[in-house]
This record gives sequence, structure tokens and C-alpha cells, in this order.
Amino acid sequence: MNHALIVDDDVDSAASLKEFVAGAQYTVAVAHSLREARRQLSLQRPDVVLLDLMLPDGSGMDLLSDAELLANTEVVLITGHASLDTSVQALRLGAVDYLVKPVSLPHLGNILSRLMKPAQLNAEMADLASGLVRQGHFGRLWGQAPPMVKVYEQISRVAGTSVTVFITGESGTGKEVVAQTVHDLSRRRKQPFLAVNCGAISPNLIESEIFGHEKGSFTGAERQHLGFFERANGGTLFLDEITEMPQELQVKLLRVLETGRFMRVGSTQSQEADVRLIAATNRQPEQAVAAGKLREDLLYRLNVFPIEMPPLRERLSDVALLAQHFLDAISKQEGQPKRFTQPALDRLGSHHWPGNVRELRNAVQRAYVMAAGDMIDGQWLPGLLPTPSPVEEAGPRPAPKSNARTVVVPIGASMAEAERALILATLQHYKHQKERVASVLGISLKTLYNRLREYAADEADTDGR
Ligand SMILES: Nc1ncnc2c1ncn2[C@@H]1O[C@H](COP(=O)(O)OP(=O)(O)OP(=O)(O)O)[C@@H](O)[C@H]1O
Ligand SMILES: [Mg+2]
Repeated sequence: MNHALIVDDDVDSAASLKEFVAGAQYTVAVAHSLREARRQLSLQRPDVVLLDLMLPDGSGMDLLSDAELLANTEVVLITGHASLDTSVQALRLGAVDYLVKPVSLPHLGNILSRLMKPAQLNAEMADLASGLVRQGHFGRLWGQAPPMVKVYEQISRVAGTSVTVFITGESGTGKEVVAQTVHDLSRRRKQPFLAVNCGAISPNLIESEIFGHEKGSFTGAERQHLGFFERANGGTLFLDEITEMPQELQVKLLRVLETGRFMRVGSTQSQEADVRLIAATNRQPEQAVAAGKLREDLLYRLNVFPIEMPPLRERLSDVALLAQHFLDAISKQEGQPKRFTQPALDRLGSHHWPGNVRELRNAVQRAYVMAAGDMIDGQWLPGLLPTPSPVEEAGPRPAPKSNARTVVVPIGASMAEAERALILATLQHYKHQKERVASVLGISLKTLYNRLREYAADEADTDGR
């Protein structure tokens, strides 16, 4: 059974908290002062401490900063009034959450049940502790390179809490998979995980999409609409591309994070939000603040638990494992197993992967389709385009030749030129069947059309000159 310690000098409030916490399957001890709290902590290590900040013999913050005393203990702060400074400081010092007096018992109930570690999390943590990432993956995340193991440790530490997580990293590094893994390992895993791309919703609809709206609150609002916050109730809301959210809405989001409450558009009544928030961006957060895309106070609040995804080029030792994982998946889906040759694997390991894991996954899918037999050779994998050396640049160069099945790109060509050559050659090879071409190239049909439009525009420009 989990054990809780309640530290509160108000005798009545401590007694009612005690009754509630005991009902949530915890054994409970109570302390009315810091001194008594320290004594209780030395008698029996609690799993959770509910800590009031204002105590007769000092501030609860002093106890919170005593890392040794609180090792393996989760602290939930109880404050008289919500202030950004104390709450951020408390979360920085390691509190998992905070409650504002008078304490909302349902909110406390949610926190307590979340703090009881789910069995799956315990198993994954035990794996990590023994230095083993089971079969090369951690939940849906594949890879065992040290930077990934660090990410797994961060996920394990935060998943069982309700703390907001902020994931940064280049496009394609796996930010959404991390968000999903945090959800899967939390007590919320049976509740919804909703992913919202803030950049994909028009700025004038985004508030009602996120917070919902009342009937008649604006032209076209014909009926009440539940926003993502209500639909994700009890679960996790993943706000992707948070820097694309309009600033006014960032203010509202900050308020939800501070108070746990929000309002539908057109309503004056606030709603309780039992939602774990995860946000992500592929921009540099500080630059986004400087560029006016991200409010500094929101960044400060999100940064309580940052997870930075390493680019794939910084974990090249994982490329073969990831490639094999994607190959197994597509082989299973298509019902025809294929294997990489050694030169193919070597080639994968020497590419720089500007598009990160997404590029690798697309490359494997494309190579699978292109390889005729059951072996996948290097020729179907991303070309190595080393930076040109000055000597090569200066010297004469034999004219490269492309034939029906290969594209030769000269050293010194840009990625855009290489891409254009490949797209056009593939298009010709597949007799302009655009869906097939998009699938072979591992890009969306929309991207293919966009590129072709760009090429046509470039040609029109050149013709016009
Ligand atoms: N470690 C991993 N193991 C397995 N699959 C992964 C891993 N990382 C990424 N992927 C896969 O790569 C693709 C891109 O990942 P994801 O969408 O999470 O990236 P992202 O960082 O959110 O990118 P963006 O910034 O463009 O939104 C997905 O298909 C995902 O399943
Ligand atoms: Mg994403």
C-alpha cells in the first residue's frame, strides 16, 4: 500500500485531507509543523507528501529543497493562492503538482491515482535500471544509443506524474512518439490521447477547437461544441507546433496550466480540466520567444520538464536497428520479407539524415518497393552527397549520365537539385503515374504536386527571361 504524509498546520484541513487520502488507498500520517514533518519522514518514507507552504516554523519550500530527505517521494504543494513564481519554483524544485486552497478533492484524487505507479511503468523502469532497453526499444520508441536512453529515463521520471512536458527537436526526430509514450506509460493510458497540430488550424477557429464554444457564441456556431480539452478529459492533450498558436491563446493556455480551469468560447462558466498537457515545437524555443512566436511566460511554464530529441545524426549507432524495425514492419504488412545487404547497411550508417527518423522510415519503404528480389542493395538507399572538395570543384568533371533506372547527381549539386532530378526521373520511369511516384519516393501526393508546380514556375521564369 502507498503511504502519504500530510503537512498542514490547519488541523481541520489536515483532518479532511487525511480522510480523503485514506479513501484513495493510502496509509496516512499527519504533521502540523516542519519539525514534525521531518520526524515523520525519518520514521517512514512516504510515496507522496502533501505539503502546505505556510507553516508555523518555516516555509514548506525548505523541506522541498531537501533532496535527500525526499528521494523517491513525490511532493504535491498546497498553496494559499496561485502565484506563478511559487508554483514554477516548486515545480523546479521537483514538486509534481500543486493545489490551490481550498483544495479541490476531485483534482487531488486525480493526482493521487496518477502517482500510484502503473505496473507497466514499473516494468519499464526496472529495465532501465538494469541498464537494459528491452529488445532495443522503449515502448514505441526504437533505439539504444546513449542520447535515447537519456530520453527514456526522462520519460520514466515524468510519465507517472501530471507535469506538463515540453518536447523540442528537429522535424522527424520522434517528438510525437515521445508524447504518445508518455501517455502510454501513465495512468491515463486508457483515456484519450489527442494530438492537435496548432499550425494546421486556422487562427480564428483555434480557440473554439481547443476550448470549445457555446451555441450562438459567434456566427456559424449553430450548436455547442466540445473542444479538445473536454474531449481529452482524463487523458492527454498533445499540442504540436505550439509556436503557431496565436499569442492571445497562449495567454489562455497559461491560465489553464495555472488554474486547471478553462472556459468555452461564449461562456462565463469555467470548467475543470483534468488533462495532461504535452507541447512540442521543432523551433529553438528561445529563438521563437525572440521572434515573438512564443510567449516567454508560457515557455517558462512549459520548461518545467523539457525533453530534447537528439537529431538522428547524433545517434548513428541506432540507424541499423531503426532501419531493421521499419523493414520488419513493411515486410509484415506486404507479406514478403526482404533483407538489407551489408553495403546497404553501411550506406545507411554514413548518411546524415537531415529529415531524421522520418526520412529513414521513408527511405526504407522506398527501397523495399524498388528492390526487385528479396535483398535490398545500397543503390536504392539515399545517395551520399558529400560536400564538394575545392580540388574537385576546380577540376574538369566528366559529364554525368543518367539512364532509365539511375539518376546521377554531380558533386556540388544542392539537395534541391538532387531532389528535382530524382523526382523528374522517377516520374518519367513510372510514366507519370503520380500516386505511384509519390509512394515510391515516400512523399505525400500533395508534396509531389507542390514540387511539380515549383519546377513549372521555375521554367516559366527561365523562359520569360
Ligand atoms: N525512435 C523511434 N522509433 C520508431 N519510430 C520512430 C522513432 N522516432 C520517430 N519514429 C517515426 O518517425 C516518424 C516521425 O516521427 P514523429 O512524427 O514523432 O516526428 P516529429 O518529431 O513529431 O516531427 P515533426 O516535427 O515534423 O512533427 C513517425 O513515423 C514515427 O513513427
Ligand atoms: Mg510532430
